[in-house]
Amino acid sequence: MANARELLGRSRRGENPLEGWAPEVPRGEAFEVGSARWDAVEPRGRSLLGKCGFVLVAGGLGERLGYGDIKIGLPTELATGTVYIRYYIETILAYQAKYAPVGIKLPLCIMTSGDTNARTVALLKANGYFGMDPDQISIVQQGEGVPALADNAASLVLDPENPHRILAKPHGHGDVHALLYSHGVARRWLSDVGMEYAVFFQDTNGLAFHCLPLALGVSDELGLAMNSIATPRKAKQAIGGIVMLVKGEGEERTINVEYNQLDPLLRATGHPDGDVNDPDTGFSAFPGNINQLLFKLEPYVAALDRTRGAMPEFVNPKYADADKTVFKKPTRLECMMQDFPTVLEGADASRVGFTSIPAAVCFSPVKNAVVDGVALQARGTHPGVAATGEADQHCAVRLFLRSVGCTVEEAAPATFGGITAVPGPEVVLKPSFVSCPSEYREKFLNPSSVKISARSSLVVEGSGVTVESLDLDGALVVKCED
Ligand code: UTP
Repeated sequence: MANARELLGRSRRGENPLEGWAPEVPRGEAFEVGSARWDAVEPRGRSLLGKCGFVLVAGGLGERLGYGDIKIGLPTELATGTVYIRYYIETILAYQAKYAPVGIKLPLCIMTSGDTNARTVALLKANGYFGMDPDQISIVQQGEGVPALADNAASLVLDPENPHRILAKPHGHGDVHALLYSHGVARRWLSDVGMEYAVFFQDTNGLAFHCLPLALGVSDELGLAMNSIATPRKAKQAIGGIVMLVKGEGEERTINVEYNQLDPLLRATGHPDGDVNDPDTGFSAFPGNINQLLFKLEPYVAALDRTRGAMPEFVNPKYADADKTVFKKPTRLECMMQDFPTVLEGADASRVGFTSIPAAVCFSPVKNAVVDGVALQARGTHPGVAATGEADQHCAVRLFLRSVGCTVEEAAPATFGGITAVPGPEVVLKPSFVSCPSEYREKFLNPSSVKISARSSLVVEGSGVTVESLDLDGALVVKCED
């Protein structure tokens, strides 16, 4: 309550939370698909795929999507109908089979909430945990939320549907760190299972893992305690930017800064033009955060032990009057998982950086209802709907196939329900077949003998498959038992 009153007071007075900090270009590296640098760094990360624990944050309400069930039960694409949680688990099991020491099971932790827990557990059980051993999976559940606050004095509000309860609202995905601490998950992964890294990812991103070995390579090369996967960001583009903030003598923190704070911060600290594109790259020096995070477990667990994983909170009330005394609706304190750099200390605070990869191969979430997606697409913004989530997965695989020399045609864009996307060719390469970009070369032995027409659909599954030549104009499913 004390924190709420303090933060509400600061919000009312319009205080800048970044006062005293100056922005600088963060540590990290940007990569192009098929580039020599990607090819050089990814092998370094490939062997580390067998040393990762995975954290899926899946407690969100999904209000914008407006889907009646849990998001991880949605299909990633319709060529195979694989649902998100199956896709994630199959990927982790493929890493385990290919890269983990014999007998080691890669752990998965799913953060649920009161809204998603029962249905998540039911989905896993009904599908035999999608092939994982149940003891590989830990489920940690967010609390019922934090009290809703009616005014600047942080008065509590009664639940209109049950006047014997205090109205609660979600506290945000920042809870994940406290849960990994209190359930002992992160420490177990480090001490008992021998994992070196923890990978945090979201509920509906079908491109989440293409970049993982590359990001692991960057973390290893730069010795990073925390590495944010990012995408090239145009100056002033409405996504948070990864920024290195410095203060006084040597205080440093590389962290996500919301786009509406970044431009004023730059202007206030000696950059009169604010956030501008670098003429060499055509992009802002501050890459866009997609909230997929890679932590080195040792410093992560040390920081958890010190802080119990509590993230700094913030408050974002919508005011109904100019004096900022009346709220349009009750607000609450929130926290975000990407704020972890605020609790890193000493040398670890400087070991934070980014890996920037084109969004086409790392980020296409399914967050929005079609009607909102149509409006976003009309404004030139990625719509983040189911149709684009699907189309972007096929597109990413086509890009990787072309990058190794295969000939893959491109279908003409088509519009369904107001959303325009390139529908094909549909290519689903299951993780048992290829699970990272550098494996494509090992599986497509003569890329110049591979041709896939625009109207084709291809599904390949099985670790023993290699493609010597292929001229596909139609549908082909190759399924091979291990
Ligand atoms: P989103 O931005 O997609 O938010 O969360 P959301 O709450 O799921 O959807 P809206 O805003 O209601 O439309 C990013 C990720 O963080 C998880 C989500 O499940 C998603 O993977 N999340 C979000 C949590 O796990 N807990 C939370 O309290 C909030």
